[in-house]
Amino acid sequence: MAQTGRAFVGPMIHSLSASELEILPSALLTVNNSGEIAAFVRNVDPQQIKETLDGLNFSPDLVTIHHLTPGQILIPGFVDTHNHAPQWAQRGLGQGMHILDWLDAITFPNEARFRDPDYARRIYASCVDGFLRQGITTASYYGSIHGEATKILADLCLEKGQRALVGKCNMTRNAPDYYLDASVEESLRVTEDCIAHIRSIDPAGKLVQHVLTPRFAISCDAEVLQGLGAIARNNPDLPIQTHFNEAEQEMKATMELFPQFTNEADLYEHYGLLGKRSILAHCCYMTEYEMERLKTLDCGVAHCPISNMTVGGGFMAAPIRDFMRRGIKVGLGTDSGGGFSSSILDAMRQAMIASHAREVTSKGEDKGLSIDEVFYLATLGGAQVCGLNEKIGNFEVGKAFDAIVVGTRGADQGVMTVVEEDDNLKTVFEKFIMTGDDRNIVQVYVQGRAVKGG
Ligand code: GUN
Ligand code: FE
Repeated sequence: MAQTGRAFVGPMIHSLSASELEILPSALLTVNNSGEIAAFVRNVDPQQIKETLDGLNFSPDLVTIHHLTPGQILIPGFVDTHNHAPQWAQRGLGQGMHILDWLDAITFPNEARFRDPDYARRIYASCVDGFLRQGITTASYYGSIHGEATKILADLCLEKGQRALVGKCNMTRNAPDYYLDASVEESLRVTEDCIAHIRSIDPAGKLVQHVLTPRFAISCDAEVLQGLGAIARNNPDLPIQTHFNEAEQEMKATMELFPQFTNEADLYEHYGLLGKRSILAHCCYMTEYEMERLKTLDCGVAHCPISNMTVGGGFMAAPIRDFMRRGIKVGLGTDSGGGFSSSILDAMRQAMIASHAREVTSKGEDKGLSIDEVFYLATLGGAQVCGLNEKIGNFEVGKAFDAIVVGTRGADQGVMTVVEEDDNLKTVFEKFIMTGDDRNIVQVYVQGRAVKGG
């Protein structure tokens, strides 16, 4: 029987690896009714689409064919490996503050508001819509400490069609009483409850999964870290996220609270929280020893170049080239509230800027990142960090169709991206990456479902 579904025809760009960007002026991609990529033909004659579909056992009559218009490009959806959903409405506040001061003054009072489920529903709906609109098809979200609000966030991701890791944030100390879990037991109980809820709404974890989320060691009693480590051991499918070596202020406070350790890698490893499913945000200050531990344990790094240089992140360009050279997984994080922008395109640009600053301070040893490389970090690299690279990240056949139709001309054009008729495809792509915004994100698909435009 002939297959049904959608087909896209036109220019497509995706990463095959960190160093290989595939640029295809005229490709055909078909999506089956399960939302998976069924076929990817790299060079097609636009006049022969019906025949090509026939050859793929797709009946052209049963398939919706999307011909990209001039100036449009199909790219994989963006992956945001580190995002605080409750900080959606506080973005822009407290820029330049040091991390612990910023948490106390700005973030904890704001996140405490998510005790109110109505408030949570309103802000989280706007947050998920906002990230989808800018093409973030997968996000690894921190929730607040509240169980009910965290379940609401997971429900909204599923309902609105965003692929997401969603975590109840664990905090039992070093925050005001009004924003702490009632006890270690309660912190772990609510976590288990959120895990069960997310498994109940998406049993196969097709779109939404729980991610264990100790905010950072400073806010967790040893017993909480131990309890979360035990949950991780019993549930090897669950990802884990935390903040890691973000800023000197934070690292010093961590070592004072855990004097038995001399570095954060040993600390988190001791509690069973470092492994191939771990997503470590920031990683600005790394010793040779910790680099080796992250590589050996196969942890992923969520590089947050905007917040690293604006809020509390030590105002530091993290050693991304060094991570990549060592084969440590790296993706990009917007960090939502922790910077001047939660645009993943801005995160790509800032990653380039930060890496070029690092090139200077490393006396040329750590080369700055290219456009191709930051695009890789925002797509396939992020998929690896989230443990989803067999499912998403590029246009490999069998992966889920998580994709963006980028537009640069006519009604798709914002004020920034100006494309001329004789621009080649790579030029259009570069202009989009360096100057584009959500106006250029014309359609967004997750698992084949249109979540914007389409
Ligand atoms: N460390 C602990 N909590 C946070 C947070 O919300 N944002 C950032 N940037 N760092 C943190
Ligand atoms: Fe963060």
